[in-house]
Amino acid sequence: MAHRWKNKLSRDDVTPYGAFMNRRQVMAGFAGLGLATMAGGKAQASALEPNSWEEITTYNNFYEFGTGKDDPAKNAHRLTTSPWSITIDGLVDRPGDYAFDEIMAAMTVEERIYRFRCVEAWSMVVPWNGFELKDLLDLAGVQDGAKYVAFETLYRPEEMVGQKFGTLDWPYVEGLRLDEAMHPLTLMASGIYGKPMPKQNGAPLRLVVPWKYGFKSIKSIVKITLTDKEPPTSWNKANGREYGFYSNVNPEVDHPRWSQATERQIGGGIFAKRIPTLMFNGYEEEVAGLYDGMDLKEFY
Ligand code: MTE
Repeated sequence: MAHRWKNKLSRDDVTPYGAFMNRRQVMAGFAGLGLATMAGGKAQASALEPNSWEEITTYNNFYEFGTGKDDPAKNAHRLTTSPWSITIDGLVDRPGDYAFDEIMAAMTVEERIYRFRCVEAWSMVVPWNGFELKDLLDLAGVQDGAKYVAFETLYRPEEMVGQKFGTLDWPYVEGLRLDEAMHPLTLMASGIYGKPMPKQNGAPLRLVVPWKYGFKSIKSIVKITLTDKEPPTSWNKANGREYGFYSNVNPEVDHPRWSQATERQIGGGIFAKRIPTLMFNGYEEEVAGLYDGMDLKEFY
């Protein structure tokens, strides 16, 4: 399996023993659910070659630290991530501030190798470490009336230099329908390659929703609210015609300014051929059922 890793880290760094054991348990769990595999949809886990640590941590979108792809790696060191807590409120039985350490102590961290497709039509494969969002929501106890989950990133302009500019309406906010949030593919990621989440990638905890465009995967989360109304989302507020609430990866629904039919793989070099984009980013088998009967052009 060493051949899957292009980086210079040792094998122990990339797949900690605990994560490996958990992956085996999850695979068993997924077999029980009738899902083919957790890593890659139609492709088997072994067919996905993750991007290098260098690629994943130097080519980022994190507008709180600037709009350039290399700005987050340059500026995010200013972010204080300890102490950290996430406020969970709204329609939950146990609202409150959940300290990062308390959350991590209660969760089982696994490795999940997922395709990651940005709405800008580039993609990577990332070996995340994290736990299912469902487990965190269960900790807080979701009440019957809840239909959506709203997420909020930290607002701290003294440390997040990009927040001094009106690029977006800060804080960055995102949302999922409750069934999307509870889906076993939906991850709260706490690390990459077995290391704590780098600040530029959204330390200490960020969302990863692999079948949706990357902007749904909100970083450095400080608040999660269970609600009965569809929550506002940052990119939809900025440009509702271009960015919808659902934002499922769909090669047949183009962005108004570019095609979504193909994507450029980061790390492939400038002469690399673009590859076809897959419906739901390759996770169709697992998630298509969430959208049965919905017109995916209307709910983009
Ligand atoms: N979360 C916050 N708070 N701010 C952002 O600017 N950018 C989004 C998403 N989450 C963003 C964010 C976009 S557009 C993408 S493609 C991914 O983060 C990038 O994640 P990565 O840098 O780990 O690849």
